[in-house]
This record gives sequence, C-alpha cells and structure tokens, in this order.
Amino acid sequence: MALSKSQLVQAVLAIGTIIKLKNGCQPIRNSAQPKNPFFGLDRKMQMNRHAKNGTTLKDSLERDRVYGPTFAMDTFTNRTIITSDPYNIKTILSVRFHDFGLSDRQFALGPLLGHGIFTSDGDRWHKSRSLIRPNFIREQIADLEAFERHFQTMLSLIPRDESTVDLQDLFFCFTIDSATEFLFGHSVESLEGKRQGNEAGSAFAEAFNYAQEDGVRLFRLGYIARILKDCRAKFVDAAIQLRCAQDEEKASVDDRKYVFLKELAKQTTDRVVLRDELLNVLLAGRDTTASLLANMLFILARRPDVWAKLRAEVAGLGGEVPTYETLRNLKYVNARLYPVVPLNGRFAHNDTVLPRGGGLDGQSPIFVHKGTFVAYSVYAMHRRKEFYGEDANDFKPERWETLRMGWEYLPLNGGPRICVGQQYALTEASFVATRLVQEFERIESRDPGPWVENLTLTVCSRNGTKVGLYAA
Ligand code: HEM
Repeated sequence: MALSKSQLVQAVLAIGTIIKLKNGCQPIRNSAQPKNPFFGLDRKMQMNRHAKNGTTLKDSLERDRVYGPTFAMDTFTNRTIITSDPYNIKTILSVRFHDFGLSDRQFALGPLLGHGIFTSDGDRWHKSRSLIRPNFIREQIADLEAFERHFQTMLSLIPRDESTVDLQDLFFCFTIDSATEFLFGHSVESLEGKRQGNEAGSAFAEAFNYAQEDGVRLFRLGYIARILKDCRAKFVDAAIQLRCAQDEEKASVDDRKYVFLKELAKQTTDRVVLRDELLNVLLAGRDTTASLLANMLFILARRPDVWAKLRAEVAGLGGEVPTYETLRNLKYVNARLYPVVPLNGRFAHNDTVLPRGGGLDGQSPIFVHKGTFVAYSVYAMHRRKEFYGEDANDFKPERWETLRMGWEYLPLNGGPRICVGQQYALTEASFVATRLVQEFERIESRDPGPWVENLTLTVCSRNGTKVGLYAA
C-alpha cells in the first residue's frame, strides 16, 4: 500500500528522531544567524565585501574565534554548518564518506569543468579516479627530468641584474607546462612562449587564470573563453588523433609511460567526455602547486634567516640537481604554512551525524539534515592554537621538526578523495624551491605591502610574488 504525503513526512521525521536518539545528538551549541532570515542576504553581501577586499580568510578565522570550531547559520530556506574541528572533518571526508557529496559543485563549476573528477560523485567519480591514478605511480613521479627542463626555461626568464620579477606569474606557467607534459604527453610550453615574447604561447595559461578567477561566472569570460575553448580543443583533437593512431597500431607516445590523455583516448572519443576529464585534472594540477610556491616565496623574500637555513640544507647536495630520493631527505625544504585549498565543503546526501558541536560544551554529536551544506575551514583549523601553539599564525618551519599531525593538518584532503596528485605536487614544489635556493644566494621582497589573499578555489597572493633575486 502506497504511503500518503503526510505519512511519508512522518516516517522521515521518525527516522531523524531515531538517528538523533541512537547517536545521543544534542542541539548545536553555537549559531551565527544572519540579520535577514529569509535568504541571509546581509551575510551574502558581507561575504561579497570580504571577497572584494581579500579578507575572506581573515573573516573565517574571526568567526572561528567568535563562534567556536562548529556553528550553524540558518535561514528560512536552509542550514549551513561551519566547522574547523578535525573530528567533524574526518567524519565528512572519511568515516561517513557516503553520507556526503559535492552536489553544488556541479552546479557552480559545471559550466567551466563539465563532468570530471572534480565535479562528480559516486560511480562517475570512481571511474575518473581509477583512470588517473596510474599516472602517479612512483616510477613516473620520480622522473624529474621534465621539471629540470621547464625550470631552466623559467630560470632564463628571471633577471640576472637583480631587477624585480613576479615569481607567481612564472610559477603558474611552470606548473601548467609540467602538468600538461605529465598528464597529456606534451607541454603547452607557456614559459617558452613568454621567452620568445610570443603572447599566443602563454594564452592558455592566461585564459586559465581568468577562468579560475571567475569560474562560477563563465558567461563573463567572453573573448577569453574562446581562447580557453580553442586550447581545450587542441588537446581533445590530440586525444582523438591518438586514438586513431592506436587503432592503426602506430601510437606515437612512449608506450612505457602511463599518459592519462592516452589512456582516456582508449576509452572514448566523445569530445565532451575528453574535454571535461582533461580540464578537471589540469585545474587540480596547476593552481595548487603554483599557489603553494608563490605563497611560500612571498614569505621567504621577507625571511632571510629561513633562506639562509635552506641554503645550508641544500648545500648538502653539492650543487647537483636533486633527485627524487635526495629531495625527500631535505626536511627543512618540505615545511610550509598556507593551505592552498583553504575552504571547502560537502552536502549531506542523507540524514546523518557529526561527532562534535552539540550540547552546552559543544562536545556532543549533532544531527545533520539531508541537504545541509557543511563548510569546513582548513585555514582556521591550521591556525588553531590548541594544536599548533600560541605562535600558530607564524611561519615557523622548525615546528615540523617535532610536530606530528593527524587530521588537524589537512592541506591535501583526506579519505577516499585525498589529493591523487599529492606526491607529484610535493615533489614538484620542493624541486622548484630547492633549485631556486641553489641558484640564488639571496632573495629580496619588492612589495611593500602585506600578503593579501587572492581566493578562487585555491589561494595565492593578490599582488603576486614580486622579488629581486641575487645569483649565487
Ligand atoms: C600543493 C599542491 C596541491 C594541493 C595543496 C592539492 C590539494 C588538493 C585537495 C585539498 C583536494 C581535495 C579537493 C576536494 O575533494 O574537495 C585535491 C584533489 C585532487 N587533486 Fe590535488 N592538490 C595539489 C596538487 C595536485 C596536482 C599537482 C595534481 C595533478 C597533477 C592534483 C590532482 C588532484 C585531483 C585529480 C584531485 C581530485 C581527487 C578526487 O576527487 O578524487 N593535485 N587536491
């Protein structure tokens, strides 16, 4: 017998009550209600202001301080839970992984990224992940020849007369050149384009920048969207040609290597599927590492003491270009501060529970209704004094000499969706840092202002990384 609508509502409420009782859920302790309860318009305007002023991360820290590690924000239409509690984050990403998903990301980023690893859940995500994983086997990550080749091109663009250069700009080109070679079998060579003063050569990198800055509002891209589309088309065409070549048993790419684009082309010649999958991993592979490097060098340019310590450590290489193994031994080089994916979130797919945030002391489980958005701030978590000490906000690489972290330190995510490129990314970042330290005796900031965030999906410096470098 079919249930009536009201019986259905009662059944859903009963299930919610059972979950609450079974898990000892308490009402959420803290809430930050917007003044406008309908759609929270005042909060939305405030968020826009912070985005414009580059203060969203500061705001995230301030709200964490005022409302505590887990709080709710309710309007008449929906509830958002905001957390920086590692227990809750672990639950979202791992313990109750199947209760949470991306849902809104497809809506917001679908126009730019279509369906790929970054925008999909369930079977579709699983398929994308299986396809890309073999690209990151140790043997391929440990081959640093391409990094050195692109580094040499980047080096040729750094002035030798100590005049000012924006390293952030170069890092974005470096990572897109390396990622396209690593994942697609050939590089877009945007650094080489820059070297030759050929604007078309770096058009892909620039178009990507612009699309990132305004990813959720693709319709505003206009002319640049066209460049981006053309470049995407170039790789899609390459994939289809490769497939044809494979069909004729004369593939041109080195068969010993797992090249994501080549493997994808074996599975499909559907242009939309190819385009979406390629663009998704490119987004993941470029901005992240470039931002990590840009933020780190921004700080290093103001910390001659740390630069000197790095030079002392790197001197152990005797001037040799580092290998995968020698890089791993450079403990000091591998320390960092800014999580480049500082804010993130998941939608509850089902009624579910988070372990903390309820009751008078905020330590009891809380009930999470299906459809609730749970935002998590890795940025705030990484600056919590109870985990990192009173100097949590300081750049202090030495802290990593003794600190051992679990879910309190999460720059690369955790659980089944942990960053699939993590080893590649960390190798790439420490390779570039080490090579710069080898080549330059001193680095000097040429930016009088403080670090201001440029926050899209990742965070880098709004004013770039303007420095002068003194050859060793
Ligand atoms: C410092 C550099 C990097 C950082 C901090 C970083 C961080 C992250 C984070 C936080 C996520 C989780 C996103 C989410 O699920 O909401 C992620 C996912 C991912 N990353 Fe990275 N990433 C870095 C570099 C890279 C590189 C270089 C590649 C590829 C060449 C890459 C490929 C991916 C992919 C494909 C995913 C999606 C995984 C999935 O959903 O299953 N990442 N990364």
